[in-house]
Amino acid sequence: MENQQLQQIAEQFPLPAYVYDSEKIVAQYNRLRNAFSKIEHLRINYAVKALSHTAIIKLFKSLGAGLDTVSIQEVQLGLYAGMQPEQIIFTPNGVSLSEIEQAAALGVQINIDNLSILEQFGAKHPQHPVCIRINPHVMAGGNSNISVGHIDSKFGISIHQLPHVLRIVQNTGMHINGVHMHTGSDILDIEVFLYAAEILFDTAKHFPNLDFLDFGSGFKVPYKKGDIETDIEELGRKLSKRFLQFQKEYGKPLTLAFEPGKFLVSEAGTFLTRVNVVKQTTSTVFASVDSGFNHLIRPMLYGSQHHIRNISNPKGKERFYTVVGYICETDTFATNRRISEIHEGDVLAFHNAGAYCYSMSSNYNSRYKPAEILMHNGQPHLITKPESFDDLIRNQIDIEF
Ligand SMILES: Cc1ncc(COP(=O)(O)O)c(C=O)c1O
Repeated sequence: MENQQLQQIAEQFPLPAYVYDSEKIVAQYNRLRNAFSKIEHLRINYAVKALSHTAIIKLFKSLGAGLDTVSIQEVQLGLYAGMQPEQIIFTPNGVSLSEIEQAAALGVQINIDNLSILEQFGAKHPQHPVCIRINPHVMAGGNSNISVGHIDSKFGISIHQLPHVLRIVQNTGMHINGVHMHTGSDILDIEVFLYAAEILFDTAKHFPNLDFLDFGSGFKVPYKKGDIETDIEELGRKLSKRFLQFQKEYGKPLTLAFEPGKFLVSEAGTFLTRVNVVKQTTSTVFASVDSGFNHLIRPMLYGSQHHIRNISNPKGKERFYTVVGYICETDTFATNRRISEIHEGDVLAFHNAGAYCYSMSSNYNSRYKPAEILMHNGQPHLITKPESFDDLIRNQIDIEF
């Protein structure tokens, strides 16, 4: 988003605040659709965990997207925002049978990722269609915490356990209507997707009544100018060709599904926060902002490098800063970054703040969660109020001493 637009928002709304650009979200969605335009039945299920606001879900609904959900609460949120049950896939990990049954009762597509629940669910509800999440044993992803398809990962049913899956399916008579995998986030190399796709095709051959193949997500987006990103167009060309070939062999029309989070919303988000203190030490210059990892934990959790610009002094001479938060432990957003000269009171804009930022925020240090603003049709809309003291104590129950 342009400096001027962000400056106006910073004057009009309380900071810190997340700002999302609906145009960018729509552009990313259309880019993915266009890359796979040769696929007749394409389903893009937005991974709602990335940015879980109902306004964003409604925007995706208006585009024709579905939802990828990982908790019963996300399912409920999707339904509340107007998604139809058949537009939602439920891909939890390690949840109880009763949570899966609750989702099944709501009519959403169930995706099961372990043998124990598969057997229990199949024995009780053999008629209910189920998708199986496999673990293809592929090491992929930008960071160990977001690499989820390798042999040591807790996610999915190992492809080596396929004979066991088939025995369960045969013994229970359950209906498998989809196969799924998700190997990780921030995957650069499209060869990794294509390699893992072959494993999914091989798995699919064992299930004659499939409606869809779900290739998960993991597309890498750029974090700064010149950053490498997943070449969606090339992936679209190569995977579509291979998918259509597989569909012919399979002998039945299939839906190709994806469930991107980051690709759809990361770049659409900007986090705005004011500089409280500029502190020169013997080793560096700290810019301490009015925020912390309670609002944006990704740099501390994943080492993610969000580009930061000073929208109050965009043409200033660049200097080196370590940008930190106010949390009472090490709370670094960026180390030795070139940023145009910072003065106390300036507003810094953090890029790529659409995915896994607000949705991972907390009240740590008893701080309020920030506001969320959606830029839509050229107008800023406040979609989440900043929290207040009442929000902090809402669920606390006092006792007398
Ligand atoms: C099962 C599943 N699907 C989709 C996603 C979305 O991944 P990304 O944000 O990299 O697109 C995730 C992310 O954690 C996931 O766990």
